[in-house]
This record gives sequence, structure tokens and C-alpha cells, in this order.
Amino acid sequence: MTSEITNIPTHVSIIMDGNGRWACSKGHDRLFGHNAGVESVKAAVEYAREKGIRYLSLFAFSEENWGRPDEEVSGLMDLMTKAVVNERPTFAKYDIRLRIIGNREQLPDDLVALVEEVEAETISNSSLDLIIMLSYSGRWDILEAARRYGKMCANATNEGLPIPFLDQDLFTGLLNTDGIPDPDLIIRTSGEQRISNYMLWQAAYTELYFTEVLWPDFRKNDFDKALESFNNRQRRFGKLK
Ligand code: FPP
Repeated sequence: MTSEITNIPTHVSIIMDGNGRWACSKGHDRLFGHNAGVESVKAAVEYAREKGIRYLSLFAFSEENWGRPDEEVSGLMDLMTKAVVNERPTFAKYDIRLRIIGNREQLPDDLVALVEEVEAETISNSSLDLIIMLSYSGRWDILEAARRYGKMCANATNEGLPIPFLDQDLFTGLLNTDGIPDPDLIIRTSGEQRISNYMLWQAAYTELYFTEVLWPDFRKNDFDKALESFNNRQRRFGKLK
């Protein structure tokens, strides 16, 4: 029996980990685990919507993941493409907005074209923002923001205008997550307890929840345990109350 969850986080983010170990433990190759992970993605999206979570972001592929064997990388890209094609009608039916955040220059052209179509098609949907972090890393995100600020300064100088003052609000707006509130809760599966270059700026005051459950096994009851844990946290943001 679970206690009543009164404080639902606005933005939940998940570092989906453990697909490879799950597959190996069953004598299969790693892609088998990633395939199974898609079912967990569907279950998590469904449950997030049911619980009234407004933003769900999923760390699907890090910049560092490009260093994995070609077969696994291309298998993962195919899997993402298939998942977006298959779930396209679901986004319309359940009022879900799809957003992809990451270095698009590294992604296959056909995947980028597909994603841009679906992003445009779902832009007005407002029950849940499903944000797939693809070819993403926190340091890349911060560097991008710094480069944008550099350009702003150069433009201001060229036009004889004052240099814009850099404060937290301005910098936050230059990140690729502009417009998306910072995650209230980050869940990481598979027993690893680290942030792995994920949302480094945005996670400054995020509550962290680690579970031993491997991503392909992660279901509603596991999601509930994370929400329950969040519900019992006292967030003070560095203040006394
Ligand atoms: C981490 O497990 C998982 C990934 C790198 C890929 C996650 C991708 C999916 C679940 C597929 C589809 C996603 C969407 C959004 C449709 P790992 O391979 O690092 O596992 P290990 O630590 O056990 O090796």
C-alpha cells in the first residue's frame, strides 16, 4: 500500500540505465535490452500523464554514447526512429508535445527530419511535454549557451550597444532547455549513483532518486516509489524553510 502522493513534481527526468546489463543477464545482445527499454519508455510516459506530471524528460543518448560500437549506435538510432514513427498517433491522441534536445549535427539526417516534423505537429499539445535528450550532455549545453552569449556580445558591440549583463536568468534562457522548468526530480535506474554529465546547470536543486531496478524492468510501481520519495522530501533551496 502506497501513501498518498500530494506533491506531484512538475518536471521529472529519468536517466534510463541498465539496458545492457538486463540483456546480458538474459543471454541476449545489448540491443535486445534497448528494445525492451522502449516498453518502459511507453509505460513511463503513460504514467506521467496519468499522474499529471507536466514535463517528462528522458536521457536516451549521451554525447559520450557515440563512442559505443557502430552496431549499437546505429541500432539505437533505428530504434528511436521506429519509436517516433510508431508513437506519432499516440502524441496526437493524448495531447503530448514531443521535443528533442541535443546536438542535432551529430544525428542521422532522416531522424532529424522526422523529429522536426513531429515537433512542429505537436507544438500546441499541452498535457505533457515529452523531452528526449538525444546526443545530449550537460557540458555541451553549457558551452552552447556560452557561445550564444559570446555572439550576443559581438552583435551588441557591432551595433554600438552595451554588453548584456550576464545573470542566471539570462544564462538559463540561453540553454537548450529554454522554457522548460528545471527538473524537480531526477530518477536514475540500475544502481548507479552519479549524474553523468546530465543537466548540470538545471539540476542545481533537483531531488535525486536512485533505484537498483534496471530500466527494462521499470514500471508504474517503481515510478510510484520515486514519486513517494519525492513527496517526503523537504526542499529548501538553500534557505531555512
Ligand atoms: C542505458 O543503458 C540506455 C541507453 C544508452 C539507451 C536508452 C534508450 C532507450 C531506452 C531506447 C529508446 C528511447 C526512446 C526515447 C524511444 P546501458 O546501455 O548503458 O546499460 P548498461 O549500463 O547496463 O550497459
